[in-house]
Amino acid sequence: MDAAKEGKLGPLKTAREEAADCTRCDLYKNATQTVFGEGGAKASVVFVGEQPGDREDIEGRPFVGPAGRLFDTILEETGIDRKKTYVTNAVKHFKFQSRGKRRIHSKPNAGEIRACRWWLGQELTMIQPDLAVALGATAVRALTGKALAVNTLRGSVVESAEGVPVFITVHPSSLLRIPDREARHTARERFAEDMRKVKTMMRKG
Ligand code: URA
Repeated sequence: MDAAKEGKLGPLKTAREEAADCTRCDLYKNATQTVFGEGGAKASVVFVGEQPGDREDIEGRPFVGPAGRLFDTILEETGIDRKKTYVTNAVKHFKFQSRGKRRIHSKPNAGEIRACRWWLGQELTMIQPDLAVALGATAVRALTGKALAVNTLRGSVVESAEGVPVFITVHPSSLLRIPDREARHTARERFAEDMRKVKTMMRKG
């Protein structure tokens, strides 16, 4: 725990190495690799997404595909330095259905979320952030153990099983799926506003 708090990866590195061989649910069978979280071991905020997508599965890093790029841009605009945060997912293997050569994202189920919760617990316990940010319903479920309504609770703070405050917002990929340009812009602004709130809840420095 101390090594992690000192900024050395320490036990977090061990957890990452152990997660590489995870067989807690069946998702490892079709995915390329475990995509563990990455970022500062002393991070004051941990962002939690749903699961790696196609790009993340190939690169082995969270939030590096289209949703990740949008997320990075908004964080930058908001003045949040991603390198000082920790970014991870509720489920650490890509779940998909094959359609020809394409791999189509498939939502993780409650059992898969529960099986993977062990790793998220390790990450939170070792990092001890001031705040976790649940990006969407799967993250909310993983962090709280409850199927809470994101739209109703958006912008509020609940508690994770470890007692970490959890700020609830939508997943950045939901912004990419809005067909109407104006509506997409409005949704993006609202998400940016959520990130500005998160910034005020982060430790300084
Ligand atoms: N969506 C997620 O929830 N996580 C990623 O890493 C990428 C896309």
